[in-house]
Amino acid sequence: MLRSPTARFLIAATLSGVLIACSGDGANGNAGSGEGPPIIKERQDNFEGIGDAFKAVRGELEKDTPDFILIAASASDINTRAAKIEGHFPTGTSVDDGFDTEALPAIWEKPEAFKAAAQKLVDESAMLVTVAGQGDKAATSAQAMTMGGACKGCHDKFRLDDEK
Ligand code: HEC
Repeated sequence: MLRSPTARFLIAATLSGVLIACSGDGANGNAGSGEGPPIIKERQDNFEGIGDAFKAVRGELEKDTPDFILIAASASDINTRAAKIEGHFPTGTSVDDGFDTEALPAIWEKPEAFKAAAQKLVDESAMLVTVAGQGDKAATSAQAMTMGGACKGCHDKFRLDDEK
């Protein structure tokens, strides 16, 4: 049955119709969201999570008897998220590309420095997990401060400061 020329033509026409529909979807994947590449939202959500976890750490350290388990868990969350930062910045997603982002072009101009800044947060958050585990408030506060320096160190160079 399928050997008839008409049937073969119909199958070919259906297939190419499917292919056109699929490639059309692909091409519109980004434009559909209206907000640029989804990776921008993903990395901003990741930083939000880092910000929330850091807030939780500072909140505990303001108490007379901080919950060191919660501090260590928050530091661990920051550590997991910090390891993802590097992969969240594909080329063409800076503020100069016209997207709603605070990512400065310096990220792509100095990739080694950016990578080192992200690694610093990985290292300092890991250290905070360790120090918090020892249950000493002064030492934990000092390490939380040091970790905060890793945030500022990166933001000063690589994040657009629109608060000034
Ligand atoms: C390696 C660089 C780097 C490090 C380290 C870093 N940040 Fe950021 N952060 C950025 C960049 C770049 C942006 C802007 C991202 C964007 O808008 O696409 C940002 C954005 C943010 C935002 C705003 C997210 C949003 O909703 O747009 C928060 C909050 C934040 N960072 C908190 C922190 C905290 C807290 C730390 C440290 C515990 C930290 N960051 C460490 C580079 C870094």
